[in-house]
Amino acid sequence: MGISKSDPIIIVGGGAFGLSSALHLTQKGYTNVSVFEKDDNIPPRFSAANDLNKIVRAEYEDEFYTELTIKAIDAWKTPLFAPHFHQVGFLHCVSGGAPEKAVATLSRFRASAEKAPKDEGPDPAWQLQGALPGWSGYLNRFDGYAHSGNALAGVYRAVQAAGVRFFLGEQGTVDEITHVSTVNCRKAAGVRTKNGRFHPSALVVVAVGAAAARLVPEIGKEVVAKSWSVAHVHLTNDETSALRGIPVTYARDLGFFFEPDPKTNLLKLCPMGGGYINTDPKTGVSHAPLTLSESAFLPEEDEKRLRRLLAQTLPSLADRPFVKSSLCWFADTDDSDFIVDYVPNTSESIVLLSGDSGHAFKMFPILGSFITNLLEAPDNVQRITRWRWKQPKANAKDDWGGDVSWRIGQSKELSAILPSKAAKL
Ligand SMILES: Cc1cc2nc3c(=O)[nH]c(=O)nc-3n(C[C@H](O)[C@H](O)[C@H](O)COP(=O)(O)OP(=O)(O)OC[C@H]3O[C@@H](n4cnc5c(N)ncnc54)[C@H](O)[C@@H]3O)c2cc1C
Ligand SMILES: *[C@@H]1O[C@H](CO)[C@@H](O)[C@H](O)[C@H]1NC(C)=O
Ligand SMILES: *[C@@H]1O[C@H](CO)[C@@H](O)[C@H](O)[C@H]1NC(C)=O
Repeated sequence: MGISKSDPIIIVGGGAFGLSSALHLTQKGYTNVSVFEKDDNIPPRFSAANDLNKIVRAEYEDEFYTELTIKAIDAWKTPLFAPHFHQVGFLHCVSGGAPEKAVATLSRFRASAEKAPKDEGPDPAWQLQGALPGWSGYLNRFDGYAHSGNALAGVYRAVQAAGVRFFLGEQGTVDEITHVSTVNCRKAAGVRTKNGRFHPSALVVVAVGAAAARLVPEIGKEVVAKSWSVAHVHLTNDETSALRGIPVTYARDLGFFFEPDPKTNLLKLCPMGGGYINTDPKTGVSHAPLTLSESAFLPEEDEKRLRRLLAQTLPSLADRPFVKSSLCWFADTDDSDFIVDYVPNTSESIVLLSGDSGHAFKMFPILGSFITNLLEAPDNVQRITRWRWKQPKANAKDDWGGDVSWRIGQSKELSAILPSKAAKL
């Protein structure tokens, strides 16, 4: 088909993929770009990237993503992104109690990290007052973290100034993609929003993170809404200062934490693990809950893991209450590969950007180039085969949680871990 630069383009979702796509489309000269976001604010509270920080690490078990991240780190150092990038290093370890799987994964990451540029520096762990019992691992100074909420807000302001239109809240909540009805084809005509309005467009870009299977049900179980929990401890000014510049500290079996945020004095922690899903028993498809309150808690097993992490690294914080705890929803695929492709049989009128699999934010500055490259493909074929549309398999596995090398444990159903349920037992 080939879309022209003045055709109206609608991006659904003002998270990491959506905002970066708006930026790259504008830079490539597309002049009629609108973003529809269901929250009334950016960073949106529903975005997996709305919070304080995300790890930016170049080492992967897979060279393809290592190369992309090295490109992304160059882009993090440009003026629009640099205020949000902190190259403090990544201390990547296993604790003394780690299972064999975690040790094996760590050694593959270490081999990959050894290829990155590095230099020797002071003892990376001097600020960690804990005993680090049995810990082993490596430090990669090339890595660090990005302040994800602020980075989203920065790109929002930049693309707004460049002429991208934003529809937020009810007027930005897309209830459905509407189609031009023809016999064999489901060409998109535009979108219909919660307030009942129809917005025409030549191309609909679906970048709704964990909500992908709601707007593009054809993807079936190939995209699974999954979540990990996030928690914070509140520090004093002195405690924040004492931890300035600490590397992102990660024990594969216990979780990780970041340099505290000097504005809020919050230190963010994430226990990782196999994650939580929310399967609709009728369809077998997992969807993120529609309200934030359903996710506003820290599962008991995660709390235990984070307490162990703190006791071993920052023992003075080990008993401090956790604040701002929540489950954070992302879009998982069985091979951890993204999906960047046209939805089949739509005459190239709908693009799905999904399957972030919990590791896309580090590439925020370049995520939008994935769609501009696709739009420029002469035959509309995604050249990067691993990012092509995933046709739902007849005998899809319901859960691949424990099969992913870089995660430990199986996924659990949200209904099984809800705190109200635990209280009743
Ligand atoms: C706990 C946790 C830790 C993570 N840590 C890292 C990390 O260390 N490093 C890393 O690189 N990545 C990390 N990630 C992954 C990263 O956050 C995601 O890859 C990234 O945010 C995905 O971007 P997205 O645009 O696909 O989805 P999101 O950023 O979630 O954005 C989707 C947006 O779509 C909107 N939306 C949904 N439905 C509609 C609708 N119907 N109409 C309008 N808008 C809609 C939502 O409100 C949301 O704003 C982590 C994720 C989690 C959950
Ligand atoms: C963008 O497209 C919409 C829908 O076709 C149209 O109403 C609007 O006038 C266009 N805006 C610009 C700036 O071209
Ligand atoms: C697209 O159409 C073809 C031919 O009609 C059909 O075989 C295929 O299953 C369709 N794909 C999807 C994803 O609907």
